[in-house]
Amino acid sequence: MVGASGMGKTTLLKLLYKEEVPDKGKVLVGGMDTSNIHGSRLRRSMGIIFQSFRLLEKKTAFENIAYGAEVLATPPKEVRKRTKEILDLVGLADKSHRLPGQLSGGEQQRVAIGRALINEPKLIIADEPTGDLDPENTDRVLNIFDRFHQEHKATVLFATHAVDVVNRLGRRVIRLQQGNVISDATGGYWSEQGEETKE
Ligand SMILES: Nc1ncnc2c1ncn2[C@@H]1O[C@H](COP(=O)(O)OP(=O)(O)OP(=O)(O)O)[C@@H](O)[C@H]1O
Ligand SMILES: [Mg+2]
Repeated sequence: MVGASGMGKTTLLKLLYKEEVPDKGKVLVGGMDTSNIHGSRLRRSMGIIFQSFRLLEKKTAFENIAYGAEVLATPPKEVRKRTKEILDLVGLADKSHRLPGQLSGGEQQRVAIGRALINEPKLIIADEPTGDLDPENTDRVLNIFDRFHQEHKATVLFATHAVDVVNRLGRRVIRLQQGNVISDATGGYWSEQGEETKE
């Protein structure tokens, strides 16, 4: 999902995970009206990566990732196994005992991604997941999403400004302007200036 700053990307994502509720209209996720689902239950069924990571500052990378599985009463052995796998996937196995404050922005971003993936959700929602990342970390994040999509048949929806990322992926692109969807196309070319051509 793309659109310039202030066009409503974060707001739309918040509606999907019920951090905001609509004044009018309905929000359907997986065909279900979210007004009938408890917000916390809805959020537990998804993997959410926030624009500002929202990591637990007093917990290590390992603990931040494990936490999501622990709250679902996953057996401790299983939590450890999955957390180790996720740390490998996001390339942080060697920094698992660091606190968020001891990690770079890109590393914190990957902890946030790991936390979102721990319960193997079928829907992953990410707000600017490559926001402040250098090209190498951007590639890493896109590869993590791609692997997860392939291996778990998960849908990954993310908001971004990064024209190059969107065009390189060649996936479905939903464009927002002033809160409205102005185009929805697969493999569509998009530029910050608003030109668009279909392949
Ligand atoms: N809690 C709020 N109450 C009222 N207006 C808000 C609130 N949050 C955001 N807005 C406004 O809604 C519009 C859309 O904001 P939103 O955060 O969804 O934009 P965005 O597309 O995610 O932008 P960015 O790319 O900068 O993250 C903006 O004009 C913003 O000022
Ligand atoms: Mg935003």
